[in-house]
Amino acid sequence: MRLYRLLRPFMFALDAEVAHRATIAALKWLPLHSAHLPASLRTSVAGLEFPSPVGLAAGFDKDAEVAAEILSLGFGFVEVGTLTPRPQAGNPKPRLFRLAEDRAVINRMGFNNRGQADAFMRLKACSRLGGPIGVNIGANKDSPDFVGDYVAGVKAMSSVADYLAVNISSPNTPGLRALQNHGALDTLLSAIAGARLKGGPPVFLKVAPDLEKGDPDRIVRAALDHGIDAIIVSNTTVSRPAIKSRYGREQGGLSGAPLRQMALETLRLFRKASSGTLPLVGCGGIANADDAWGRIRAGASLVQLYSAMVYKGPHIARRIAEGLADKVREAGFSSIAEAVGTE
Ligand SMILES: Cc1cc2nc3c(=O)[nH]c(=O)nc-3n(C[C@H](O)[C@H](O)[C@H](O)COP(=O)(O)O)c2cc1C
Repeated sequence: MRLYRLLRPFMFALDAEVAHRATIAALKWLPLHSAHLPASLRTSVAGLEFPSPVGLAAGFDKDAEVAAEILSLGFGFVEVGTLTPRPQAGNPKPRLFRLAEDRAVINRMGFNNRGQADAFMRLKACSRLGGPIGVNIGANKDSPDFVGDYVAGVKAMSSVADYLAVNISSPNTPGLRALQNHGALDTLLSAIAGARLKGGPPVFLKVAPDLEKGDPDRIVRAALDHGIDAIIVSNTTVSRPAIKSRYGREQGGLSGAPLRQMALETLRLFRKASSGTLPLVGCGGIANADDAWGRIRAGASLVQLYSAMVYKGPHIARRIAEGLADKVREAGFSSIAEAVGTE
């Protein structure tokens, strides 16, 4: 923690994407070990065992280079990707902006990744000492058949994924979010259901926070109809709630502190729509144990974060886990699962 505070000015002097590459390179040196998290945080969701409900969200380890190292840091699970069937370069740079005054990030990376086959080899060889490794799948920008790309992703990645996350909520691939719309969502989810093999990994659906009234009910119904195992609420927002930074007008998805309230309210809508029948993963603006606890009490069985790690360093997951264990004890519960949906 102190080390990160010392290093942060140097990291922040670098271009955000260069700093991100440097962090990935440094993590590769981390010795692998089991993270020993408080026992009261163990939880089971969609048939998987999680040593803690605090995970790393998609987009940090897009190519599955450091998944085991991230788990060693004290994350209870990690979601790699988004991975597309074919490698793609993503949008022109600059495409990643730190909004330090707002504790936020704007990105329009556009699914830069080396493709599913490349990540497959690494995931196959990856140490499985810690919690689950989820694989987030998407569509290539120039694909004539987005649905076909998700089907290809399910087929290609199921054998190396503890869960799959179907990402139809990135704002940086034109047309992708339209897959959340009525007919399109049914078509997609039914194609995915058809591609899943018996005994394959659970499938989570990742949604946007920029929804219309009635969308949560409709999405939950479609998810239940097609056997989706959990919903991740949410991806970045295209809205711009009160931003101070000069980068506030950059195009792309906004994440971090300004997204917190919106993601929490969207989660509440999904909880109401599903009345506890579908596990939810809370994501967006989570930066400390209070935020994580609030999200769990609002109905999330698991939580994920990304942006807060940029500001607080890689030990954030362990600190949140310790804070959550205190809250479980203070509330008189024996396990974190008892807190889900208690607000
Ligand atoms: C630089 C960056 C890249 C991201 N890339 C992806 C991605 O490839 N796929 C995805 O589903 N979400 C991606 N996200 C969204 C995060 O997974 C998460 O949903 C969002 O940032 C909200 O969480 P946070 O406020 O804790 O960052 C990305 C976020 C950031 C900041």
